[in-house]
Amino acid sequence: MTVNSEDDFIKKVERAYQGEVYGEALYSGIASAMDDPARAEKWRVLTELEVVTKARMRDLVAKLGGDPRESDVFRQKGVDHVQKYARMPWTDFMKVFSRELDPIIERYAALEERCAPDDVETLRFLTEHEVVTKAFCDLELAGRSDISIEPTRELIAKMRTA
Ligand SMILES: [Fe+2]
Repeated sequence: MTVNSEDDFIKKVERAYQGEVYGEALYSGIASAMDDPARAEKWRVLTELEVVTKARMRDLVAKLGGDPRESDVFRQKGVDHVQKYARMPWTDFMKVFSRELDPIIERYAALEERCAPDDVETLRFLTEHEVVTKAFCDLELAGRSDISIEPTRELIAKMRTA
């Protein structure tokens, strides 16, 4: 990689890391805002996935010489967006959320293509965590709320042992 493209790569990894800071604040806020205990629990599991992913990304940012401090601006943005989602009817919420994840999955998959072999596992997990979050929304929409959180639970378990 040239110096410029390496700089750009590190910036994108940092941005993805702060995306987890945002996600943790957003998802835990959504969990607290849910009236339905089963839905609240699912958002707590999704929050846990954000925390596990954030920790992996923090290690990668530090390794690449980036800034591993959590951004208050991103955290606050997450807090500010809670009501936007939590107020929607459940089906609308799941549809919007699933759709919003598409460009993010694409962006993270592109990062995987650019990284050093040592960092593939972490960036694969980064992409995969959005894939299972989207799967959660899509399974909810398909009437499979009984198993919708399972892919997320499985990925958390996999990341904890990797
Ligand atoms: Fe995330």
